[in-house]
Amino acid sequence: MYDFAPATGQPKPALYADLVDAVRAITHGEPDAVANMANCAALLGEFLPDLNWAGFYRMVDGELVLGPFVGRPACIRIALGQGVCGTAAATGETQLVPDVHAFPGHIACDAASRSELVVPVKRDGLVIAVIDLDSPLLARFDAEDAAGIEALAAAIADGI
Ligand code: SME
Repeated sequence: MYDFAPATGQPKPALYADLVDAVRAITHGEPDAVANMANCAALLGEFLPDLNWAGFYRMVDGELVLGPFVGRPACIRIALGQGVCGTAAATGETQLVPDVHAFPGHIACDAASRSELVVPVKRDGLVIAVIDLDSPLLARFDAEDAAGIEALAAAIADGI
């Protein structure tokens, strides 16, 4: 059993540092990408508050394909440049969206989602996946969340 619980009530940077440590520990020495993404999604879903979806889309033959996640069933394929995930994958840049209804082309997988954070996972400078977080709260994510998930993306890039 992998027993992990971050200290409660700590500031976001400390919480993300704990999550990065946990992801490194749980993926260490494990080459299976699906297993590593699944455990990472589970950690995000359990320990980040106010999320309704957390998981991965993988770059497969030039488009994004749904990967391991926690949340409601989601759209399976996303073209580069489409939606928040496709924009993150096409630009290689984190997308911090305080109000998804104001994002042109946002793809609604769960009508409850109101804000979203999508971070590219890069290996050797190429986007190999994105990490997608959705929240039912407006403006749930800020620059500290973006920095934390970017650190997590770097930590898992060699394991997926
Ligand atoms: N909202 C995303 C689609 C994926 S779901 O949120 C899980 C987008 O606009 O790309």
